[in-house]
Amino acid sequence: MNRQAWDDVERALAGALVPEEAHMVEAREAAIEQGFPEHQVAANQGALLMLLARSANAKRVLEVGTLGGYSTLWLLRGLRGDGSIDTLEIDAARAAFALAIFERAGAHDRISLHEGAARETLARFIDEGRSPYDFVFIDADKPNNPHYLEASLALTRPGSLIVVDNVVRDGEVANPESTDERVAGVRAMFEMIRDDPRIEATALQTVGSKGWDGFALLRVLD
Ligand code: SAH
Ligand code: DHB
Ligand code: MG
Repeated sequence: MNRQAWDDVERALAGALVPEEAHMVEAREAAIEQGFPEHQVAANQGALLMLLARSANAKRVLEVGTLGGYSTLWLLRGLRGDGSIDTLEIDAARAAFALAIFERAGAHDRISLHEGAARETLARFIDEGRSPYDFVFIDADKPNNPHYLEASLALTRPGSLIVVDNVVRDGEVANPESTDERVAGVRAMFEMIRDDPRIEATALQTVGSKGWDGFALLRVLD
């Protein structure tokens, strides 16, 4: 593994294709200065989220796991004109930080941050009978991935796109002996996907500043 080369290529790709806007760079760096974990998507991954949301013609976006709001800002760029994002975060300090980021981006009217345990927030959304989301990004505590997928299926419609981050974890996803409960959450989610006739899916490995990891891409069938 040549991590330096991964980083160099990532910078070249991100810089050459869809660059971060200045306020996104600031948001990413400010989150790191806060001492938040460096779990934000890389810039080229954020651009992928933007492109996928735009391709899905997404007007209603759901994000599970806000952290400092960096991926949210990319999703915002992919949103259809009058669309909106609901983003879920359990940690009060991160939620407060992200809210300030959204205000600074002039996006507080298009992004609703829901502080609390995502399972509870999602259960409430289902109870409320919310209109379906067009695009979901699942990126919170990995052991709960099966629950987040189940809730996402209840909150989407045929044709909706669901993206799940961190499904490779340094290759551990392919290790049946892994004792990591985050990996177990991903594997349990994969089994659900395989057994669920409502979904078609694939997953891609990625390397770069986030190490060796990957995304699962799911489409709710018509
Ligand atoms: N999507 C962000 C990164 C999210 S990191 C980005 O790419 O920029 C995962 C986040 O999920 C963390 O901030 C963590 O506090 C949050 N989280 C963990 N468990 C959670 C839970 N049960 N409910 C809601 N959020 C949770
Ligand atoms: C972790 C979580 C993430 O969402 C991520 O992108 C990278 C790492 C983690 O919990 O270790
Ligand atoms: Mg992640």
